Amino acid sequence: MLAPLTGGGNLPFRRLCTEMGADVTVGEMAVVKKLLGGSPSEFALLKSHPDERRFGVQLADKRTETLVEGARLAESRGARFVDLNCGCPIDQITRRGLGASLLRKPAKLGRLVAAMKGAVSIPVTVTLRAGWHEDKVNVSDVRGRVRRGAPARSRSTDAPASSGTARRPTGSSSGRSRRSGECR
Ligand SMILES: Cc1cc2nc3c(=O)[nH]c(=O)nc-3n(C[C@H](O)[C@H](O)[C@H](O)COP(=O)(O)O)c2cc1C
Repeated sequence: MLAPLTGGGNLPFRRLCTEMGADVTVGEMAVVKKLLGGSPSEFALLKSHPDERRFGVQLADKRTETLVEGARLAESRGARFVDLNCGCPIDQITRRGLGASLLRKPAKLGRLVAAMKGAVSIPVTVTLRAGWHEDKVNVSDVRGRVRRGAPARSRSTDAPASSGTARRPTGSSSGRSRRSGECR
């Protein structure tokens, strides 16, 4: 599986990875608000190559109505699954309440996922971190809540708690565009 890589996981790169054996591919994180605003560069993130037989679109947003719209859009553009980004730690994203900051409100997150799942017939997945902060490792709670709505893709390799250096999502991105910002 090729994990989502903002700033790197574009269509030609994914095609190469598919040729080299990647069975499941995920697009670069798409901000739903920008999609609904008609941004051509954001729409480009929904495109896949026919060789990508299991291509998923990853979405970032925090509102039920917009996420439902985003999930429907992804499905209508051919995505085989849709993933909700709850892992991106960069300030540019978390200060808007997106990405990893969704982990702060597990009950709300559970409702968001349930709404997405109810809106599409493709699978809905969720990318999680161990927690928002080293003192707030709540992946079990979050996983329990989202499971009622979706399977969780737990990112154990880079989850803050697994390294013993759990961190508040960091990575000041001032002066960098989102596409060049790292979302890991
Ligand atoms: C440059 C870069 C961009 C990333 N962009 C995203 C992203 O948009 N969404 C996401 O969920 N994870 C993103 N990640 C995290 C990766 O998908 C992956 O989970 C992480 O690199 C850990 O996997 P690894 O141990 O194989 O590197 C990004 C990572 C990097 C290095």
